[in-house]
Amino acid sequence: MASMPTRSDVMETLKGVIDPELGSDLVDLGMIQDVHVSDEGVVTIDLALTIAECPMRNQIESDTTRKVGSLPGVTRVDIRTTAMTKQQRADLMSTARFRVRERAEPTKLSPTTRVIAVSSGKGGVGKSSASTNLALATAAMGYRVGLLDADIWGFSIPRMLNITERITANEERNLVPVEAYGLKVVSTGLIVESEETALMWRGLMLSKALEQFLKQVEWGELDYLFLDMPPGTGDVQMALTRLLPQAEMIVVTTPQQAAQKVAIRVADMARRSFMPVVGALENMTHFVCDHGDIYELFGSGGGAELAEVLNVPLIGSIPIDPQMVAGGDNGLPVVVHAPDSPSGRAFREAAARLIEIVPPAKDETCTGRIAKLLEALPVTSHSE
Ligand SMILES: Nc1ncnc2c1ncn2[C@@H]1O[C@H](COP(=O)(O)OP(=O)(O)OP(=O)(O)O)[C@@H](O)[C@H]1O
Ligand SMILES: [Mg+2]
Repeated sequence: MASMPTRSDVMETLKGVIDPELGSDLVDLGMIQDVHVSDEGVVTIDLALTIAECPMRNQIESDTTRKVGSLPGVTRVDIRTTAMTKQQRADLMSTARFRVRERAEPTKLSPTTRVIAVSSGKGGVGKSSASTNLALATAAMGYRVGLLDADIWGFSIPRMLNITERITANEERNLVPVEAYGLKVVSTGLIVESEETALMWRGLMLSKALEQFLKQVEWGELDYLFLDMPPGTGDVQMALTRLLPQAEMIVVTTPQQAAQKVAIRVADMARRSFMPVVGALENMTHFVCDHGDIYELFGSGGGAELAEVLNVPLIGSIPIDPQMVAGGDNGLPVVVHAPDSPSGRAFREAAARLIEIVPPAKDETCTGRIAKLLEALPVTSHSE
């Protein structure tokens, strides 16, 4: 079904792979020497590492493989690594230094924060429930987690977490997220006074609102930031790619959805925004009655089919659970209030699977590496 990605599609995707230590992406840093896409969908990438024994090597390689591998049509990713020449390293360091100085401009999110956008091909499939519960399950594993309600008008996170507090501004006039169940939460619903006054925000461009949330919010150090995406594709998606090229996507589906159709829409959206899809999540899988009998109310197989078509793992199947409806409406998320319910368990398993696929970025800054890089530079490039 999918056509082959072009070389520039691959380059765009590589802009989403960040060297956490140097704080910029592989393309910007000049680490990509060549890219070749074969007719069979094998992508070969010549990657120049700063030093052969680069401590970030594994992470850079696995991020590259995962992200490029998620482009529709890619069957395999081969990475050929070399070490940079002195001149290449000099260029890289001046880019990296330049970026550090420029750092005010991009988002307030640390380059080591993994960004997971929870999307779907259509509305009402459980994105908000999934992003909330996955974020909570991830936090319960001990990670520092944020939850950004990117559904600017249709926000539902404040209700899902029963947040009555409002976002405040600090002395630097930046916004401070609200803390709820250990998550750092930002939502339009936490700024406006009521769901009605949200209407007043409609004049504001969607992408501008998202930009504010990323540039003016004091997120602090986070391991993961989950984004509850609005239904459908479009503005927010595109803005997100521009603002957070490192974002990766999970696609939520119900079992009965014509997976093929959803997959095409999602793959198309992913291709246009160069946001890799890293997993599928099936929601409302089946109903387990008190006697343990299973009822497949909404059909079956949608998640597995979608995962297969998108060529990504199915990270979980969340059963239909009346506690979820009640939980969503009353701000009692299942992962916290009924962790051993069928849906609570399923979300915790899905989060664990997600962490396996997108492991936390290493954030031990290896000053040794920077020192080595500087040592290896030609003398002239030290001048600022
Ligand atoms: N597994 C489930 N079992 C029972 N009810 C569920 C389940 N998942 C979601 N729901 C309910 O379905 C409704 C829609 O879910 P949710 O708001 O998470 O979907 P959404 O994809 O975010 O919707 P939208 O596209 O409008 O943003 C909510 O009332 C929620 O409580
Ligand atoms: Mg929603």
